[in-house]
Amino acid sequence: MTTLALYNLKGGVGKTAAAINLAYLAAKEGNRTLLWDLDPQGSSSFYLGVKTSVKNESKKLFNSEMDLADAVQPSEYENLSIIPADMSARHADILLNEMKQSKRKLSSLLSPLKKEYDIVILDCPPGISLLHDNIFNAANWVLMPNIPTTLSIRSYESVAEYFKENDLDIDKVKCFFSMVDHRKNLHHETMKKFYRDKIFFKNYIPYLSDVEKMGTNEAPLETFAASSYAAQCYRDLWKEIKKNCL
Ligand SMILES: Nc1ncnc2c1ncn2[C@@H]1O[C@H](COP(=O)(O)OP(=O)(O)OP(=O)(O)O)[C@@H](O)[C@H]1O
Ligand SMILES: [Mg+2]
Repeated sequence: MTTLALYNLKGGVGKTAAAINLAYLAAKEGNRTLLWDLDPQGSSSFYLGVKTSVKNESKKLFNSEMDLADAVQPSEYENLSIIPADMSARHADILLNEMKQSKRKLSSLLSPLKKEYDIVILDCPPGISLLHDNIFNAANWVLMPNIPTTLSIRSYESVAEYFKENDLDIDKVKCFFSMVDHRKNLHHETMKKFYRDKIFFKNYIPYLSDVEKMGTNEAPLETFAASSYAAQCYRDLWKEIKKNCL
């Protein structure tokens, strides 16, 4: 089982769009794939047409009153299961703070599923907190979409600093550019500068309206716009992730 976390300290950078499209591609290739929507906003759950839980399941999971396997739901796509989000996830930090081994709870919840899934994708809320410590420990790879702007790159630098200060393995963080606008010189310049740095994947996701249409279609790109440039970009990115991370 390989666990990939789609994460950024910053919000609105394309984490969920990537989580959905990459999870779909992984499943389509025959990998038993689990997408865990850790964000109380529930965007991944929405895109997969799965209702967010009303039973405060996150709270029960973090309190060890429930096994993770019991929170898994099938999606309408073969090989793709989901753990939907729920509003109790907003208390994750408080719940984690109260327990022993509080930075490894997510790992221990996932551990019994090791034989059942080939790939686990975590759609993470933005921020940096105890929940994120758990994510960083549980993930084999932390995949970070970055819009090529100064502020977005600063957020990568803050995360890198945090990893260093907390003895976390910075080598597991890999970045890719997201929402790239070819008309913007700043985007070109920033990409040129950071491509020297090996932490960035070569493939990137441009700013394309087909990605936004995932909202109206409530579905991964591949299911309603497989021949689009946007779908091709996610396929190329997935190929590069497989080569480097699986
Ligand atoms: N490549 C893209 N081109 C155009 N629009 C995009 C692209 N990627 C994402 N979007 C749109 O931008 C918005 C934010 O994207 P998304 O929800 O994937 O970001 P996020 O990082 O998960 O946000 P949050 O931090 O709120 O969870 C959404 O409306 C989405 O449709
Ligand atoms: Mg999101």
